Order: sequence, then structure tokens, then C-alpha cells
Amino acid sequence: MTKLYLNGEWINPAEAKISVMDRGFLFGDGVYEIIPVYSRMPFRLDEHLARLQQSLDGVALVNPHSLAQWRVLILKLATDAQWEDQSIYIQVTRGTMAVRNHAFPAVIQPTVMLMAEPLTTPPEAMRTNGIATVSAIDTRWLRCDLKTTSLLANCLLRQYAVAQNCVETILFRDGLLTEGSASSIFVIKAGVLFAPPKDHRILPGITYDIVLELAATYGLPVIVRDIAETETRNADELWLASSTKEILPIATLDGKSIGRIGVAPSLPVGVGETKAKPETAALQGSRTKDVLFAVADDGTPSATSRWPIHTKMLAWYQTYKHEVMRHG
Ligand SMILES: Cc1ncc(COP(=O)(O)O)c(C=O)c1O
Repeated sequence: MTKLYLNGEWINPAEAKISVMDRGFLFGDGVYEIIPVYSRMPFRLDEHLARLQQSLDGVALVNPHSLAQWRVLILKLATDAQWEDQSIYIQVTRGTMAVRNHAFPAVIQPTVMLMAEPLTTPPEAMRTNGIATVSAIDTRWLRCDLKTTSLLANCLLRQYAVAQNCVETILFRDGLLTEGSASSIFVIKAGVLFAPPKDHRILPGITYDIVLELAATYGLPVIVRDIAETETRNADELWLASSTKEILPIATLDGKSIGRIGVAPSLPVGVGETKAKPETAALQGSRTKDVLFAVADDGTPSATSRWPIHTKMLAWYQTYKHEVMRHG
């Protein structure tokens, strides 16, 4: 069994206990990180640890560990866990208090927990057929840039999607796109990638950064600016991105089809559209601009042509991921 780390000890999950006076339990007073691990190698570890530091700074919590100490803990977990691919969860709370009080205790002993879970990447069908989403008003607080454990609004918004057999809820605040309840959202229009700015309204996603870096590398034009709800609904392509879901095409928003061909996302591949062709080695290895807007060679409607730029981005992402994994 994979042990978890709690306040200096490696223990079986069933034996892990925290006090009911822990501020994380009572107030959601804590921050967290989730780091994907492929073949036991943490992906973009430094970036995740930098974001953890930003979240800690944002809630005035002193980092209980140095970068070197975090690395040792995370690498031990990644090495010892029973799965090759993992999702490592880190949580730091403001610890316990003697009497329930919103104000911080004079002396703070943070609660630190790390655990690994198997990494479940989305099934191939989701990449091929896209996912169904719904929309809602962004009811979260105005520090969405911090990865805090107070996630009730996110949970309610996510459940709103689940209740409608959808994968994600896309959020709008004051008529502008923010993000998904647990993901970043990108818009493609007329061959340009639009991304909402990284400010207090969204979480600075690690995958968001990778998408923008890959766009720059391969010559996909990018505009980072506020994106109107109407622009989102009229997108040529909509993408969802996160460390665990990677980059998924959105097939429907509130029941309306996104993309070139109106195929219901629940249909299996082969019904209503040609099975997506796997990306060719030439495309995956290529860094030229001329492949950007390619559609299926024979011109037939295909999943590839429904979200052509997504198909390219996913191939670039997979290539990048494997390069990083090969070189550490
Ligand atoms: C609200 C929110 N936005 C964006 C993301 C994507 O962030 P990352 O790419 O770092 O996983 C997440 C991931 O959990 C999230 O919860």
C-alpha cells in the first residue's frame, strides 16, 4: 500500500488523522498543489512548487519546507507509490488552534500532507469526440489565482456539470470567460488562440503556460486578453486544459455544438464522422507553420478536421511531454 506523508511521518492512509481543530478542516484555511507524475517523474515540478509558494504567500502562510525538502518528499513518494503514473497531492493548512477563532493563532504549526493517487488521463474517446460542457456564472471569490483548499464554489459548479451528464462547467464573470471549475479554457477563432489573462480571476494553470509556450514554438498566433461570453460561444474551437486532463476539445457548450461538424459528443467514433487519424510522425516532429491548419488528406469530414488546431496542439503537447520525460 502506498503510504502518505503527514507532518513528518510516512503512514498508511487509514491511520492518518488530523485534529478537528485544524483550520483546514474548520475553515478550509490552507493551500494545495497537484503534480502529475509520468513513469515516476514529476512533470514541471519546479513550476508546481513555485505556484505552491505563490499560494502560500497569498494566504500569508510561511512555507514549512525549502524547495530541496519538497523535492525529497515528492521524489520519495513518486518512487515508492504503487503506480507508475501518479497524481501527487500536496496540502498545507494553517494547523490547529486551541479555540475556534477566525483570527490566526499566535503560534502556527502548519499541517503538511502529501499523498499519491493513480493518474487517470482522459480516455481516448474524449480526445476524439470532445466533451460536453455547461456554463454558469462564476460564483467563486476574487482570489482565484490562489490554489486554496476552500473549494466549495468549485465543487458546486463541477456538480452542476455532472448533474447534466457533462464533464465541466465553463465560468463567466461580468460577461467574460474566466475558466472551468477545475480547468483552464482556451478559445480558437480564425486561426488565433485566445487566452484569458492570468490575473486574480483565474488560476495560473501550469498547462495554460505549456499551451502558450507550444503555440509560440510552433507559430500559432496567440492573443491574451479578456474574452467575451459571446466570443466563447461562437468559437471555432474551445479547449479545456489541466495537468490531469491535458488538453481536451469541447464538443458542446450548453447543448450547442462547437466545431465544424455538429456531431453529438456521446456518439462513438465512426458514427457520423470518420475515425480520427493518428497524428503522423512528420507532424509530431515538425516545427513548421505550414501544418497548422491542415485537415484530413482526403477532405472527408473527420474528427481531425472538427478541431484541427486542437489536434495539432495535442500532438505538440505529447511530443513535449515525452521529450521532458526522456530528458528529466
Ligand atoms: C480552477 C482551475 N483552473 C485551472 C486549472 C488547471 O491548472 P493546471 O494546468 O495547473 O492543472 C485547475 C486545475 O486543477 C483548476 O482547478
